[in-house]
Amino acid sequence: MNFPKGISTIVDILKMLLALISLLVLFLIVISVNPDLLVKKAKDTGPWKPKSVLTDLEGEPKAALIKFGFELITKTPQLIGPMSSNPNKQFAGNNLTCQNCHLEAGTKPGSGSFVGVFNRFPQFSGRENRMGTLEQRVDGCMQRSMNGQPLPKNSLEMKAIIAYIKWLSENVPEEEEAKYKGYAKVKLPEVAADPLLGKLTFEKHCVVCHGDNGQGQRPSENALYIYPPLWGKDTYNHGAGMHRVITAAEFIKGNMPYLQATWDNPVLSDEEAYHVAAYINSFDRPLKSNPEADFPEKHLKPVSTPYGPWTDDFTAEQHKYGPFQPIMKFYNEKYGIKKSK
Ligand code: HEC
Ligand code: HEC
Repeated sequence: MNFPKGISTIVDILKMLLALISLLVLFLIVISVNPDLLVKKAKDTGPWKPKSVLTDLEGEPKAALIKFGFELITKTPQLIGPMSSNPNKQFAGNNLTCQNCHLEAGTKPGSGSFVGVFNRFPQFSGRENRMGTLEQRVDGCMQRSMNGQPLPKNSLEMKAIIAYIKWLSENVPEEEEAKYKGYAKVKLPEVAADPLLGKLTFEKHCVVCHGDNGQGQRPSENALYIYPPLWGKDTYNHGAGMHRVITAAEFIKGNMPYLQATWDNPVLSDEEAYHVAAYINSFDRPLKSNPEADFPEKHLKPVSTPYGPWTDDFTAEQHKYGPFQPIMKFYNEKYGIKKSK
Protein backbone atom coordinates (compact mmCIF):
# COMPACT_ATOMS: atom_id res chain seq x y z
CA MET A 1 0.00 0.00 0.00
CA ASN A 2 1.07 3.52 -0.66
CA PHE A 3 0.52 5.72 2.39
CA PRO A 4 1.48 9.35 2.51
CA LYS A 5 4.93 9.69 4.12
CA GLY A 6 3.71 10.70 7.63
CA ILE A 7 1.37 7.71 7.95
CA SER A 8 3.95 5.19 6.73
CA THR A 9 6.30 6.37 9.55
CA ILE A 10 3.52 5.82 12.12
CA VAL A 11 2.96 2.30 10.77
CA ASP A 12 6.69 1.58 11.08
CA ILE A 13 6.68 2.82 14.67
CA LEU A 14 3.66 0.67 15.46
CA LYS A 15 5.37 -2.37 13.92
CA MET A 16 8.44 -1.77 16.04
CA LEU A 17 6.32 -1.36 19.18
CA LEU A 18 4.55 -4.63 18.40
CA ALA A 19 7.89 -6.40 17.98
CA LEU A 20 9.13 -4.99 21.31
CA ILE A 21 5.96 -6.04 23.12
CA SER A 22 6.19 -9.57 21.70
CA LEU A 23 9.81 -9.80 22.89
CA LEU A 24 8.78 -8.63 26.35
CA VAL A 25 5.93 -11.15 26.52
CA LEU A 26 8.29 -13.94 25.40
CA PHE A 27 10.81 -12.92 28.11
CA LEU A 28 8.08 -12.90 30.79
CA ILE A 29 6.88 -16.35 29.72
CA VAL A 30 10.41 -17.81 29.86
CA ILE A 31 11.08 -16.30 33.29
CA SER A 32 7.73 -17.45 34.71
CA VAL A 33 8.44 -21.00 33.52
CA ASN A 34 12.03 -20.95 34.85
CA PRO A 35 12.55 -18.23 37.49
CA ASP A 36 16.03 -19.63 38.33
CA LEU A 37 17.38 -18.07 35.13
CA LEU A 38 17.41 -14.62 36.70
CA VAL A 39 19.06 -15.77 39.93
CA LYS A 40 21.66 -17.92 38.11
CA LYS A 41 22.75 -14.93 36.02
CA ALA A 42 23.52 -12.99 39.20
CA LYS A 43 25.37 -15.93 40.81
CA ASP A 44 27.54 -16.63 37.77
CA THR A 45 29.46 -13.41 38.19
CA GLY A 46 31.58 -14.14 41.33
CA PRO A 47 33.94 -17.09 41.96
CA TRP A 48 32.17 -20.41 42.71
CA LYS A 49 31.18 -20.81 46.36
CA PRO A 50 29.83 -23.83 48.29
CA LYS A 51 26.22 -23.65 49.45
CA SER A 52 25.44 -22.27 52.89
CA VAL A 53 22.50 -23.28 55.11
CA LEU A 54 22.09 -19.61 55.98
CA THR A 55 21.31 -18.47 52.45
CA ASP A 56 20.68 -21.42 50.13
CA LEU A 57 18.00 -23.61 51.71
CA GLU A 58 14.97 -21.86 50.25
CA GLY A 59 12.72 -24.18 48.27
CA GLU A 60 14.83 -27.21 49.27
CA PRO A 61 12.47 -30.13 50.05
CA LYS A 62 14.84 -31.61 52.67
CA ALA A 63 15.69 -28.24 54.24
CA ALA A 64 14.88 -29.28 57.83
CA LEU A 65 16.98 -32.45 57.65
CA ILE A 66 19.92 -30.63 56.03
CA LYS A 67 19.74 -27.88 58.66
CA PHE A 68 19.81 -30.53 61.41
CA GLY A 69 22.87 -32.09 59.73
CA PHE A 70 24.58 -28.70 59.82
CA GLU A 71 23.75 -28.34 63.54
CA LEU A 72 25.20 -31.79 64.25
CA ILE A 73 28.45 -30.81 62.49
CA THR A 74 28.74 -27.51 64.38
CA LYS A 75 27.34 -28.41 67.83
CA THR A 76 28.29 -32.08 67.99
CA PRO A 77 28.87 -32.54 71.75
CA GLN A 78 25.61 -30.78 72.65
CA LEU A 79 23.48 -32.92 70.35
CA ILE A 80 25.23 -36.30 70.23
CA GLY A 81 28.04 -36.04 72.79
CA PRO A 82 28.88 -35.63 76.46
CA MET A 83 26.84 -32.41 76.78
CA SER A 84 23.58 -33.97 75.59
CA SER A 85 21.00 -34.14 78.38
CA ASN A 86 19.76 -37.44 76.90
CA PRO A 87 22.07 -40.27 78.04
CA ASN A 88 20.92 -42.35 75.05
CA LYS A 89 22.32 -39.77 72.66
CA GLN A 90 25.86 -39.49 74.01
CA PHE A 91 27.57 -41.18 71.08
CA ALA A 92 30.61 -38.89 70.82
CA GLY A 93 33.11 -39.32 73.63
CA ASN A 94 34.76 -35.89 73.54
CA ASN A 95 33.64 -32.29 73.27
CA LEU A 96 35.08 -31.54 69.84
CA THR A 97 32.73 -30.63 66.99
CA CYS A 98 33.11 -32.10 63.51
CA GLN A 99 33.69 -28.52 62.41
CA ASN A 100 36.80 -28.22 64.62
CA CYS A 101 38.60 -30.25 61.93
CA HIS A 102 36.26 -29.94 58.93
CA LEU A 103 36.36 -26.15 59.04
CA GLU A 104 33.50 -23.78 58.20
CA ALA A 105 31.02 -26.64 58.60
CA GLY A 106 32.92 -28.67 56.02
CA THR A 107 33.12 -25.98 53.35
CA LYS A 108 36.71 -24.75 53.69
CA PRO A 109 39.04 -26.17 51.01
CA GLY A 110 42.03 -28.06 52.43
CA SER A 111 40.37 -29.12 55.69
CA GLY A 112 38.89 -32.45 54.58
CA SER A 113 35.96 -30.48 53.18
CA PHE A 114 32.61 -32.23 52.66
CA VAL A 115 32.11 -30.49 49.30
CA GLY A 116 32.05 -33.31 46.73
CA VAL A 117 32.58 -36.11 49.29
CA PHE A 118 29.17 -37.71 48.68
CA ASN A 119 30.13 -38.35 45.04
CA ARG A 120 33.25 -40.33 46.05
CA PHE A 121 31.43 -42.99 48.09
CA PRO A 122 31.19 -45.97 48.37
CA GLN A 123 34.96 -46.14 48.47
CA PHE A 124 37.57 -48.79 49.30
CA SER A 125 38.81 -48.54 52.88
CA GLY A 126 42.17 -50.11 53.71
CA ARG A 127 41.42 -49.60 57.40
CA GLU A 128 38.51 -52.07 57.04
CA ASN A 129 39.73 -53.83 53.86
CA ARG A 130 36.31 -53.54 52.22
CA MET A 131 34.20 -51.14 50.20
CA GLY A 132 32.94 -48.61 52.71
CA THR A 133 29.86 -46.41 52.63
CA LEU A 134 29.77 -42.75 53.58
CA GLU A 135 27.87 -43.78 56.73
CA GLN A 136 30.78 -46.03 57.71
CA ARG A 137 33.24 -43.19 57.04
CA VAL A 138 31.26 -40.88 59.34
CA ASP A 139 31.28 -43.63 61.97
CA GLY A 140 35.06 -43.88 61.51
CA CYS A 141 35.35 -40.27 62.70
CA MET A 142 32.78 -40.94 65.47
CA GLN A 143 34.94 -43.76 66.85
CA ARG A 144 38.32 -42.07 66.42
CA SER A 145 38.26 -38.29 65.98
CA MET A 146 35.26 -38.07 68.34
CA ASN A 147 36.55 -40.92 70.56
CA GLY A 148 33.02 -42.39 70.70
CA GLN A 149 30.67 -44.95 69.17
CA PRO A 150 29.05 -45.34 65.77
CA LEU A 151 25.69 -43.64 65.29
CA PRO A 152 22.76 -46.10 65.39
CA LYS A 153 21.86 -47.47 61.95
CA ASN A 154 19.04 -45.49 60.28
CA SER A 155 19.08 -42.90 63.06
CA LEU A 156 17.80 -39.43 62.24
CA GLU A 157 21.24 -38.10 63.19
CA MET A 158 23.05 -40.21 60.59
CA LYS A 159 20.44 -39.38 57.94
CA ALA A 160 20.83 -35.67 58.67
CA ILE A 161 24.64 -35.69 58.44
CA ILE A 162 24.48 -37.61 55.15
CA ALA A 163 21.76 -35.27 53.79
CA TYR A 164 23.94 -32.26 54.61
CA ILE A 165 27.06 -33.75 52.96
CA LYS A 166 24.99 -34.81 49.93
CA TRP A 167 23.50 -31.34 49.59
CA LEU A 168 26.98 -29.72 49.73
CA SER A 169 28.14 -32.17 47.05
CA GLU A 170 25.39 -31.41 44.50
CA ASN A 171 26.32 -29.56 41.30
CA VAL A 172 29.93 -28.95 42.25
CA PRO A 173 32.02 -28.16 39.15
CA GLU A 174 34.70 -30.81 38.61
CA GLU A 175 37.70 -28.51 39.03
CA GLU A 176 36.21 -27.11 42.27
CA GLU A 177 35.69 -30.62 43.61
CA ALA A 178 39.41 -31.34 43.15
CA LYS A 179 40.28 -28.11 44.96
CA TYR A 180 38.07 -28.89 47.96
CA LYS A 181 39.28 -32.47 48.34
CA GLY A 182 41.67 -33.48 51.11
CA TYR A 183 44.50 -31.35 52.47
CA ALA A 184 47.40 -29.14 51.44
CA LYS A 185 50.41 -31.14 50.26
CA VAL A 186 53.49 -31.17 52.46
CA LYS A 187 56.92 -32.03 51.06
CA LEU A 188 58.11 -34.32 53.82
CA PRO A 189 61.54 -33.53 55.24
CA GLU A 190 63.84 -36.58 55.02
CA VAL A 191 64.48 -36.52 58.76
CA ALA A 192 62.42 -37.67 61.72
CA ALA A 193 59.84 -35.13 62.88
CA ASP A 194 61.19 -33.62 66.09
CA PRO A 195 58.76 -32.68 68.89
CA LEU A 196 61.39 -30.40 70.46
CA LEU A 197 61.68 -28.36 67.27
CA GLY A 198 57.89 -28.44 67.03
CA LYS A 199 57.60 -26.96 70.51
CA LEU A 200 59.29 -23.78 69.28
CA THR A 201 56.74 -23.40 66.48
CA PHE A 202 53.94 -24.20 68.92
CA GLU A 203 55.04 -21.44 71.29
CA LYS A 204 55.31 -18.93 68.48
CA HIS A 205 52.15 -19.76 66.48
CA CYS A 206 49.70 -21.83 68.52
CA VAL A 207 49.87 -21.06 72.24
CA VAL A 208 47.77 -17.87 71.99
CA CYS A 209 44.68 -19.93 71.21
CA HIS A 210 45.30 -23.53 72.21
CA GLY A 211 47.20 -22.65 75.43
CA ASP A 212 50.66 -23.86 76.46
CA ASN A 213 49.10 -26.96 78.00
CA GLY A 214 47.32 -27.64 74.67
CA GLN A 215 43.92 -27.75 76.38
CA GLY A 216 42.27 -24.98 74.40
CA GLN A 217 39.72 -22.59 75.88
CA ARG A 218 36.00 -22.56 76.57
CA PRO A 219 33.86 -20.26 78.72
CA SER A 220 32.61 -23.14 80.93
CA GLU A 221 32.39 -26.92 81.17
CA ASN A 222 28.99 -26.80 79.46
CA ALA A 223 30.00 -24.62 76.55
CA LEU A 224 31.58 -25.46 73.21
CA TYR A 225 35.29 -24.84 72.93
CA ILE A 226 36.29 -21.55 71.37
CA TYR A 227 39.73 -23.10 70.82
CA PRO A 228 39.67 -26.91 70.93
CA PRO A 229 42.16 -29.05 72.89
CA LEU A 230 44.97 -30.77 70.96
CA TRP A 231 45.89 -33.50 73.41
CA GLY A 232 44.75 -34.99 76.75
CA LYS A 233 41.41 -36.61 77.68
CA ASP A 234 38.98 -34.46 75.70
CA THR A 235 40.26 -34.87 72.17
CA TYR A 236 40.79 -37.33 69.28
CA ASN A 237 42.08 -40.79 70.20
CA HIS A 238 45.26 -42.51 69.05
CA GLY A 239 43.44 -44.30 66.21
CA ALA A 240 42.40 -41.01 64.56
CA GLY A 241 43.75 -39.66 61.26
CA MET A 242 44.89 -36.49 63.04
CA HIS A 243 47.16 -38.66 65.20
CA ARG A 244 49.24 -39.50 62.12
CA VAL A 245 52.05 -36.96 61.81
CA ILE A 246 51.72 -36.66 58.01
CA THR A 247 47.94 -36.02 58.07
CA ALA A 248 48.25 -33.57 60.98
CA ALA A 249 51.07 -31.70 59.19
CA GLU A 250 48.91 -31.38 56.06
CA PHE A 251 45.90 -30.18 58.05
CA ILE A 252 47.99 -27.69 60.05
CA LYS A 253 49.79 -26.30 56.99
CA GLY A 254 46.56 -25.39 55.23
CA ASN A 255 44.52 -24.26 58.25
CA MET A 256 46.60 -23.08 61.21
CA PRO A 257 47.12 -20.51 62.63
CA TYR A 258 43.34 -20.23 62.40
CA LEU A 259 41.93 -17.51 60.12
CA GLN A 260 45.38 -16.91 58.67
CA ALA A 261 46.48 -20.05 56.83
CA THR A 262 44.69 -21.36 53.74
CA TRP A 263 45.60 -24.36 51.58
CA ASP A 264 47.00 -22.07 48.87
CA ASN A 265 48.47 -19.48 51.20
CA PRO A 266 49.93 -21.23 54.25
CA VAL A 267 51.71 -19.51 57.12
CA LEU A 268 54.03 -22.31 58.29
CA SER A 269 56.76 -23.87 56.17
CA ASP A 270 56.56 -27.62 55.45
CA GLU A 271 59.27 -28.18 58.11
CA GLU A 272 57.40 -26.20 60.75
CA ALA A 273 54.09 -27.97 60.04
CA TYR A 274 55.84 -31.37 60.17
CA HIS A 275 57.61 -30.80 63.50
CA VAL A 276 54.68 -29.11 65.22
CA ALA A 277 52.45 -32.05 64.15
CA ALA A 278 54.92 -34.30 65.98
CA TYR A 279 54.83 -32.06 69.03
CA ILE A 280 51.03 -32.07 69.49
CA ASN A 281 50.95 -35.82 68.88
CA SER A 282 53.74 -36.56 71.39
CA PHE A 283 51.38 -36.21 74.38
CA ASP A 284 48.96 -38.73 75.91
CA ARG A 285 45.44 -38.94 74.49
CA PRO A 286 42.57 -41.46 74.70
CA LEU A 287 43.40 -44.92 73.33
CA LYS A 288 41.24 -46.45 70.60
CA SER A 289 40.06 -49.91 71.69
CA ASN A 290 41.13 -52.89 69.60
CA PRO A 291 43.51 -51.03 67.25
CA GLU A 292 45.04 -54.35 66.12
CA ALA A 293 41.87 -55.00 64.12
CA ASP A 294 42.52 -51.98 61.86
CA PHE A 295 43.84 -52.75 58.40
CA PRO A 296 43.21 -56.50 58.18
CA GLU A 297 45.64 -56.42 55.23
CA LYS A 298 48.60 -55.03 57.16
CA HIS A 299 50.53 -53.98 54.05
CA LEU A 300 47.75 -51.47 53.28
CA LYS A 301 48.34 -49.59 56.53
CA PRO A 302 49.55 -45.99 56.07
CA VAL A 303 53.29 -45.79 56.83
CA SER A 304 52.57 -43.18 59.50
CA THR A 305 50.03 -45.25 61.47
CA PRO A 306 51.68 -45.01 64.87
CA TYR A 307 50.41 -48.33 66.28
CA GLY A 308 51.24 -51.90 65.17
CA PRO A 309 51.22 -54.55 64.05
CA TRP A 310 53.04 -53.84 60.77
CA THR A 311 54.40 -56.11 58.04
CA ASP A 312 57.85 -54.54 58.17
CA ASP A 313 60.77 -54.22 60.58
CA PHE A 314 60.71 -50.46 61.07
CA THR A 315 60.40 -49.37 64.70
CA ALA A 316 57.21 -47.99 66.27
CA GLU A 317 59.16 -44.76 66.77
CA GLN A 318 59.88 -44.46 63.05
CA HIS A 319 56.26 -45.22 62.10
CA LYS A 320 55.19 -42.39 64.37
CA TYR A 321 57.81 -39.73 63.63
CA GLY A 322 59.52 -40.82 60.41
CA PRO A 323 61.64 -40.38 58.43
CA PHE A 324 58.91 -41.88 56.24
CA GLN A 325 60.70 -42.13 52.88
CA PRO A 326 62.53 -45.40 53.75
CA ILE A 327 59.19 -47.00 54.79
CA MET A 328 57.49 -45.77 51.62
CA LYS A 329 60.40 -47.13 49.55
CA PHE A 330 60.07 -50.53 51.26
CA TYR A 331 56.36 -50.85 50.36
CA ASN A 332 56.95 -49.63 46.84
CA GLU A 333 59.70 -52.21 46.26
CA LYS A 334 58.12 -55.15 48.07
CA TYR A 335 54.40 -54.65 47.21
CA GLY A 336 54.47 -52.14 44.36
CA ILE A 337 52.33 -49.76 46.45
CA LYS A 338 53.01 -46.01 46.33
CA LYS A 339 52.09 -44.64 49.76
CA SER A 340 51.74 -40.95 50.50
CA LYS A 341 50.74 -41.13 54.15
C1 HEC B 1 40.10 -34.36 65.21
C2 HEC B 1 39.73 -34.01 63.86
C3 HEC B 1 38.44 -34.54 63.26
C4 HEC B 1 37.16 -34.46 63.78
C5 HEC B 1 36.73 -33.85 65.08
C6 HEC B 1 36.30 -35.09 62.80
N1 HEC B 1 37.03 -35.52 61.73
FE1 HEC B 1 36.30 -36.36 60.02
N2 HEC B 1 38.20 -36.58 59.30
C7 HEC B 1 39.34 -36.18 59.96
C8 HEC B 1 40.50 -36.56 59.18
C9 HEC B 1 41.96 -36.29 59.55
C10 HEC B 1 40.01 -37.19 58.01
C11 HEC B 1 40.81 -37.78 56.85
C12 HEC B 1 41.51 -39.01 57.29
C13 HEC B 1 42.42 -39.59 56.25
O1 HEC B 1 42.70 -38.95 55.23
O2 HEC B 1 42.83 -40.72 56.47
C14 HEC B 1 38.56 -37.17 58.11
C15 HEC B 1 37.69 -37.68 57.14
C16 HEC B 1 36.32 -37.55 57.17
C17 HEC B 1 35.43 -37.87 56.08
C18 HEC B 1 35.87 -38.34 54.69
C19 HEC B 1 36.32 -37.15 53.90
C20 HEC B 1 36.83 -37.46 52.52
O3 HEC B 1 37.33 -36.52 51.85
O4 HEC B 1 36.76 -38.60 52.08
C21 HEC B 1 34.14 -37.61 56.51
C22 HEC B 1 32.87 -37.77 55.70
C23 HEC B 1 34.25 -37.15 57.88
N3 HEC B 1 35.57 -37.12 58.24
C24 HEC B 1 33.16 -36.81 58.67
C25 HEC B 1 33.26 -36.37 59.99
C26 HEC B 1 32.12 -36.11 60.84
C27 HEC B 1 30.67 -36.25 60.41
C28 HEC B 1 32.60 -35.71 62.05
C29 HEC B 1 31.84 -35.40 63.31
C30 HEC B 1 30.91 -36.44 63.76
C31 HEC B 1 34.06 -35.69 61.94
N4 HEC B 1 34.42 -36.11 60.69
C32 HEC B 1 34.92 -35.25 62.95
C33 HEC B 1 39.41 -35.50 61.15
C34 HEC B 1 38.34 -35.22 61.98
C1 HEC C 1 43.79 -17.71 66.32
C2 HEC C 1 43.58 -18.89 67.13
C3 HEC C 1 44.32 -20.15 66.71
C4 HEC C 1 45.66 -20.32 66.48
C5 HEC C 1 46.76 -19.27 66.57
C6 HEC C 1 45.85 -21.72 66.17
N1 HEC C 1 44.66 -22.38 66.21
FE1 HEC C 1 44.34 -24.36 65.88
N2 HEC C 1 42.35 -24.09 65.99
C7 HEC C 1 41.74 -22.90 66.30
C8 HEC C 1 40.30 -23.06 66.20
C9 HEC C 1 39.25 -21.98 66.46
C10 HEC C 1 40.09 -24.39 65.79
C11 HEC C 1 38.73 -25.02 65.50
C12 HEC C 1 38.23 -24.48 64.19
C13 HEC C 1 36.73 -24.43 64.10
O1 HEC C 1 36.02 -24.99 64.93
O2 HEC C 1 36.25 -23.76 63.15
C14 HEC C 1 41.39 -25.02 65.70
C15 HEC C 1 41.60 -26.35 65.37
C16 HEC C 1 42.83 -26.99 65.39
C17 HEC C 1 43.04 -28.42 65.23
C18 HEC C 1 41.97 -29.48 64.98
C19 HEC C 1 41.06 -29.69 66.14
C20 HEC C 1 41.71 -30.34 67.33
O3 HEC C 1 41.36 -29.96 68.46
O4 HEC C 1 42.55 -31.23 67.17
C21 HEC C 1 44.39 -28.63 65.32
C22 HEC C 1 45.12 -29.96 65.21
C23 HEC C 1 45.02 -27.34 65.52
N3 HEC C 1 44.05 -26.36 65.57
C24 HEC C 1 46.38 -27.14 65.65
C25 HEC C 1 46.98 -25.87 65.70
C26 HEC C 1 48.41 -25.64 65.62
C27 HEC C 1 49.46 -26.73 65.54
C28 HEC C 1 48.59 -24.30 65.65
C29 HEC C 1 49.88 -23.53 65.53
C30 HEC C 1 50.63 -23.75 64.30
C31 HEC C 1 47.28 -23.68 65.78
N4 HEC C 1 46.32 -24.67 65.79
C32 HEC C 1 47.07 -22.30 65.88
C33 HEC C 1 42.35 -21.72 66.66
C34 HEC C 1 43.70 -21.46 66.54
